[in-house]
Amino acid sequence: MRGANGTNDGPDVEAMAEFFDRRAASYDEHMRRSVAKFSDFYRHVADPIERTEEPIAILDLGCGTGLELAFIFEKVPNARITGVDLSQEMLAKLSEKHHDKGKQITLVRASFLDFEIGEERWDYIVSVMAMHHLAPGEKLRLYRAIHKGLKPGGLYIEGDYVVTEEEEEESLKRYAEFRRKYPEAANGAYHIDIPFCSETQLRLLSNAGFMRAETGWEGEQAAVFVAQKLRRNYAELSQKLLEFLDAQSRILHDPAHRVGVNRVLSRDG
Ligand SMILES: C[S@@+](CC[C@H](N)C(=O)[O-])C[C@H]1O[C@@H](n2cnc3c(N)ncnc32)[C@H](O)[C@@H]1O
Repeated sequence: MRGANGTNDGPDVEAMAEFFDRRAASYDEHMRRSVAKFSDFYRHVADPIERTEEPIAILDLGCGTGLELAFIFEKVPNARITGVDLSQEMLAKLSEKHHDKGKQITLVRASFLDFEIGEERWDYIVSVMAMHHLAPGEKLRLYRAIHKGLKPGGLYIEGDYVVTEEEEEESLKRYAEFRRKYPEAANGAYHIDIPFCSETQLRLLSNAGFMRAETGWEGEQAAVFVAQKLRRNYAELSQKLLEFLDAQSRILHDPAHRVGVNRVLSRDG
């Protein structure tokens, strides 16, 4: 097998950064033509963001050429954006297009799986058309980091391709086969599409700790998911509730307690 890297032993698909480096020049035009209801989709990505003149902090994972930023800046013109992307050429296009906002934009060339998202740093974290290359476990780990990185009450907004449950099952099977052959293809290193159905997306977000996760918009091939981190007072309350439930469960499983329960049961029985 001749790999995309020009050797005879690598996977026959392109590495992620090279894939987008090669297509950066024609990327925007390609998206305008191929994403059904292009403007509707990107408008719905920006929709959950509250209008403000404040310099709020937004992290964009897989920002590419910054298609979503045009829609986001309409709502929050003074936002400070940090964009993370693997492709130098895509980032260069972004800088060129949004040079008028240059002082508000920080670009980082890295994998969003390695980027230090931090703790309670961001008002919003967004990701558009970039997460459908991750396997479920990889995505869940990233969602947990995103949840941790948001300020209390902050929103995670993801726009991405979606498929039916059956299509998801098929592509996961194909992906598992591919990974068995090429273990190095983990962590979205290669351009392989494994989009999920909406139910899987919402389940992963809820497993990552988001108490509220919903589909904000759904088109034929793509959807926008919105997940909110609890506000601080709710977060503290839910932490206390979890500790209380944990203590209750420990008491119930405590052998000394169980002896007591059994004694009462046998006496009353
Ligand atoms: C289809 S483009 C989307 C770009 C932009 N968000 C948009 O909607 O037009 C996907 C982008 O995600 C980037 N990407 C994919 N996997 C990545 C990763 N693990 N870390 C950082 N960037 C990644 C690619 O380099 C590419 O620029």
